[in-house]
Amino acid sequence: MSAIYLLRRFSTKPPSRFHRNLFFSTFSKESSPPPDLSRTTRTIFTQRFAPSSIWFFPQSKISPNRREFSTSVETNPTDKTFERIHVQSGVIVERIHKKEEEEEETVSRVNVETTGERKALREESEAEKEAWRILENAIVRYCGSPVGTVAANDPGDKTPLNYDQVFIRDFVPSALAFLLKGEGDIVRNFLLHTLQLQSWEKTVDCYSPGQGLMPASFKVRTVALDENTTEEVLDPDFGESAIGRVAPVDSGLWWIILLRAYGKITGDFSLQERIDVQTGIKLIMNLCLADGFDMFPTLLVTDGSCMIDRRMGIHGHPLEIQSLFYSALRCSREMLSVNDSSKNLVRAINNRLSALSFHIREYYWVDIKKINEIYRYKTEEYSTDATNKFNIYPEQIPPWLMDWIPEQGGYLLGNLQPAHMDFRFFSLGNFWSIVSSLGTPKQNEAILNLMEAKWDDIIGNMPLKICYPALEYDDWRIITGSDPKNTPWSYHNSGSWPTLLWQFTLACMKMGRPELAEKALALAEKRLMADRWPEYYDTRSGKFIGKQSRLYQTWTVAGFLTSKLLLANPEMASLLFWEEDYELLDICACGLRKSDRKKCSRVAAKTQILVR
Ligand code: GLC
Repeated sequence: MSAIYLLRRFSTKPPSRFHRNLFFSTFSKESSPPPDLSRTTRTIFTQRFAPSSIWFFPQSKISPNRREFSTSVETNPTDKTFERIHVQSGVIVERIHKKEEEEEETVSRVNVETTGERKALREESEAEKEAWRILENAIVRYCGSPVGTVAANDPGDKTPLNYDQVFIRDFVPSALAFLLKGEGDIVRNFLLHTLQLQSWEKTVDCYSPGQGLMPASFKVRTVALDENTTEEVLDPDFGESAIGRVAPVDSGLWWIILLRAYGKITGDFSLQERIDVQTGIKLIMNLCLADGFDMFPTLLVTDGSCMIDRRMGIHGHPLEIQSLFYSALRCSREMLSVNDSSKNLVRAINNRLSALSFHIREYYWVDIKKINEIYRYKTEEYSTDATNKFNIYPEQIPPWLMDWIPEQGGYLLGNLQPAHMDFRFFSLGNFWSIVSSLGTPKQNEAILNLMEAKWDDIIGNMPLKICYPALEYDDWRIITGSDPKNTPWSYHNSGSWPTLLWQFTLACMKMGRPELAEKALALAEKRLMADRWPEYYDTRSGKFIGKQSRLYQTWTVAGFLTSKLLLANPEMASLLFWEEDYELLDICACGLRKSDRKKCSRVAAKTQILVR
């Protein structure tokens, strides 16, 4: 067995003890590296050939698409907190800090001081004080540094499953709470460590998903090297252990959104400028923008690929993924440095942003007028300028919707596919459409009008319904596969999730209606501490703590704190949302000449709602 074979094997798979021993027994007596190794590998071989050797040798020779890591990932010269990250078996095993106390504090003094001062003016409630204690206790450390927060810390829970892991999506509200409090380190560490996990070799039954995929979660494990030594390793889950083997499509999108937020709030833009971070953004974007069989600019995904990570009939083009995708595209457009190697990607991002917003604004929007239009739809239209493009049969309009839709207000559909509209209202997708300006200014306003009109249904006793209404009877049986956790008005099937409060708060603040968020927050504050910070609530009005709800759920705690901090710091909140981008509205990527304009779907579109 040659050195090259072993090195290549280790570049894609963690070495087994057998291969490790084999490597040492084969080559430990050689004084020079085998001749056919590439330069970087030779250097590694020479410098690090010892029991603590580095076992991760990604080379362009091995996989042209893999990011060029050296074994110690050299960081930006201006970056003081992450000097070198040593990677072993594709696992980060060591971080060498060259931190100096003063330098560590450089993270956006101005912003942090502003936040600190404001905080001092406000007396924290008992609930807030307890929330901070819980959040601090949820912190996960890796080689001594904070890198994230566990999903839940319920002392009474004897079967935590994977709730003892750091979930990418769950960490976002924790990260924002820390950032708004002036603590940037944990977020920076999280972003850099998860970036390393992105290049991990991932396999599900011998199939490898794309390079840019981010894990759903990770865990810090202590592994024994020999009888006396242990080391900490980061162990990611890309869905290969997750219940239902769901794909964490939203993780990479959240990572990009958080990266931008980190820069905006701390003022430390050096992180997003680093070459490895830029490469991380590109890998995620390339994965999202790759050509496939899709007919629409929306991202095609399998069921359960986001916060709703179980079968709930959200396969295809669910709104939650589309609004996070749109937000991540906008973030990437801001953060990518434009040069010869990125200009095509930037162009593709601009085109997709424009096509995606058109598609969502035009085809996902529902209000009383649109429902009436659908009600009178002709079907089986064969032409490029059909009114009923997706061949929706009017019988699909659910009876509940006819009564429920208010005179004022509207919302974006949960999902759209050929001959299928999912009319359920999904909170996260609608809030992020407001935050990112995926919806038109009028649509965004109308979504909040609907929230107000349907307050008892969506907020009720506890903010906020993950979706409305629940799937019941045969719908529940067929669509969820009789899932006993997702029974009607529970968990993902229209349960109430307090973590969604921070996203609602941000949406309300953007639209100049903070009082709506304050009202919802006050409701939550009345109960969350007494109820021990549940993950979710059950029943139509969110009256009871969820049947199988975890207690001391970190993103419940963090969502509450982040809402408080956003409301107390409107100028910080404004850094996290986007206004309408008129430049994007002008881009039409279909390439049809003026004389052919009839065929351009935008021109053919009936309702011309780009900015209405
Ligand atoms: C549940 C939620 C998911 C969350 C995880 C950890 O699986 O559906 O969104 O990330 O718990 O809290």
